[in-house]
Amino acid sequence: MKINIAAPDIGAEEIAAVAAVLQSGILACGPRTAELEARFAQYVGTKQAVGMNSGTAALMVALQSLGVGPGDEVITVPFTFIASANSILYVGAKPVFVDITDEDFNLDPSLLEGALTSHTKAVMPVYLYGQTAEMAPIVDFCQKHDLFLVEDACQAHGAKDQGKMAGSFGLGCFSFYPTKNMTTSEGGMITLDDPELAHRCDMIRNHGSQKRYYHEMLGFNFRMTDIEAAIGLVQLDKLERNNAARKANARFYREALKDVAGIVLPQELPGRIHVWHQFTLRVTPECKVSRDGLAEELGKLGIGTAIYYPLPLHQQVWFQKLGNDWGRFPVAERISLEVLSIPVHPKLSQGDLEEVVEAVKEICK
Ligand SMILES: Cc1ncc(COP(=O)(O)O)c(C=O)c1O
Repeated sequence: MKINIAAPDIGAEEIAAVAAVLQSGILACGPRTAELEARFAQYVGTKQAVGMNSGTAALMVALQSLGVGPGDEVITVPFTFIASANSILYVGAKPVFVDITDEDFNLDPSLLEGALTSHTKAVMPVYLYGQTAEMAPIVDFCQKHDLFLVEDACQAHGAKDQGKMAGSFGLGCFSFYPTKNMTTSEGGMITLDDPELAHRCDMIRNHGSQKRYYHEMLGFNFRMTDIEAAIGLVQLDKLERNNAARKANARFYREALKDVAGIVLPQELPGRIHVWHQFTLRVTPECKVSRDGLAEELGKLGIGTAIYYPLPLHQQVWFQKLGNDWGRFPVAERISLEVLSIPVHPKLSQGDLEEVVEAVKEICK
């Protein structure tokens, strides 16, 4: 592809930071991990942060640290990456889906009451494409019903709602996968305020141990490495700059593509800060080309696109056993047939942006 859908911003500083760790001889969870935890907590505005080896591990450990387990239900959305719901299954609990809104692609808070049962233990909103859900009603619902709030902020490093950072509303779970707004290669982080809970997360990621070879609970090896953390420290320094570049790219697209018939552009909703992990068009039936046709034509021109996600979770073979038939989540189902993400990453040049715009306009003409 001439213009890729994602391009990690890795340079000489990351390479030097990794080399320094390799030379230090401390490769696993060491001083760089502790430093990244402290700095990431400060960035998000929480008292604590615990590094993990993936966003998936962060979600699972967050749930386990709260005691969510067999017999419990966790409310989440069907329009997300599979890891959101899998993390609920890993701890033995049941994902209960509620539909999304087509304004922000996130959990529709007006549907929460209808999903509540005596087994509900937690709510897991997902901040898809870099924008939080509408948090006030979700936080109120959790408080009213004494539920935990576990935020899947894996795509939303630096996003805000009403001035408050993603990852600071409940237990925040982040991914540092290569395509994310910041990366550690693979990696993840839990952000939270409660030091006791942070200590539990620390133990769970480390085989349930706080003293070497003494194990107090069932844990895993989900530790972050210092190689990952060293990359993350450089990436964290670049995050605001790279998020600003994503915002500028999104602004350009929103202006340049606003009159393309049949294309609905993504929006930053009032009071929120969108960090544009993805710029996701909706190609509606009114458009001259189909969503898949547009993707194919852009591909022929060397422009990468992606469909996040083509099949809602309730329709995945793996989840059909939960009895979530087609028709139950009409917004997620419709949106999954319309979405197409175009490149918005910070390494795009002005020429790249113009090329994407011209191509989309020409194909949809
Ligand atoms: C919404 C969402 N949740 C969870 C994850 C899982 O993160 P990871 O790939 O780091 O395990 C991802 C990342 O791909 C994601 O996008």
